[in-house]
Amino acid sequence: MNVRKAVFPAAGLGTRFLPATKASPKEMLPLVDKPLIQYGIEEAAASGLTQAIIVTGRGKRAIEDHFDISIELEHALEAKGEYELIEELRAIANLMSMCYVRQKTPLGLGHAILCASGAVGDEPFAVVLGDDIIDARVPCLKQLLEVAGEHRASVIALERIPREAISRYGVIDGTQVGDRLWSITDLVEKPPAEEAPSDLAIIGRYVLVPAIFPLLEQIKPDRKGEVQLTDALRALAAEEPLYGVVFEGKRYDAGDKLGFLQATVEYALKNGELGEDFRHYLRSLPL
Ligand code: UTP
Repeated sequence: MNVRKAVFPAAGLGTRFLPATKASPKEMLPLVDKPLIQYGIEEAAASGLTQAIIVTGRGKRAIEDHFDISIELEHALEAKGEYELIEELRAIANLMSMCYVRQKTPLGLGHAILCASGAVGDEPFAVVLGDDIIDARVPCLKQLLEVAGEHRASVIALERIPREAISRYGVIDGTQVGDRLWSITDLVEKPPAEEAPSDLAIIGRYVLVPAIFPLLEQIKPDRKGEVQLTDALRALAAEEPLYGVVFEGKRYDAGDKLGFLQATVEYALKNGELGEDFRHYLRSLPL
């Protein structure tokens, strides 16, 4: 299975992070020294994908500027002799080839992905939710792509979630068919804990076949008026094989204030330039 393109839905309102997201895109919140969305783009590039399709909405222009070349900034840095920094900024613009589509109204994740159908075309593609920051030895998307290639089917990332938190996630039902591999028979979005079919939650990495698009078109919006990707995946699982991989690595929900702070602390501690001083600082706090 040859996967080249990754869709990055980034048109959500970011209500969990208000007021920070009132006038700035959530995707541009800095995790140590890079905006959240850059981590997702770097993961996709490290997984061998070459084309990013970012689904944006109103007030998200900063994302486009971030992955573009800034001539004025480069001139200013050149005048100061900051050549290394220029190289660093250029590298961001060259991570993947970028394409932007607009979701005019935030009608849900499923609808956002459908907005990218023209840019994806008739080929398998990845979906990366930039809120989910994943620290892994082998990039999470690469772990999925390996399974997708082997089974020639759609694959989604899974994580075991404690029962008390499971109602915040999409949850799968299925059979274990490998070490970390599940064959999915059904999916349910945000079930009450006592009705959840498993403790395996869907998290923000997917490799999907283009057959998902006509299914997304048929999905009726939920009570909140949102088209849920989970509903289309459910229809897909009824028609063809769908796999889930319990990925190896650690995920942070950076779209949530606490998850964002956890990611910030752990990434800062691991940072080559800041880590030691930051550790020292944390130790000095009267916790
Ligand atoms: P989330 O629900 O996590 O993001 O959607 P959100 O809607 O921005 O945040 P909250 O819940 O209001 O705080 C998961 C992903 O789907 C995208 C979001 O940008 C995020 O990457 N999304 C969601 C869209 O692109 N369009 C939508 O209509 C909804």
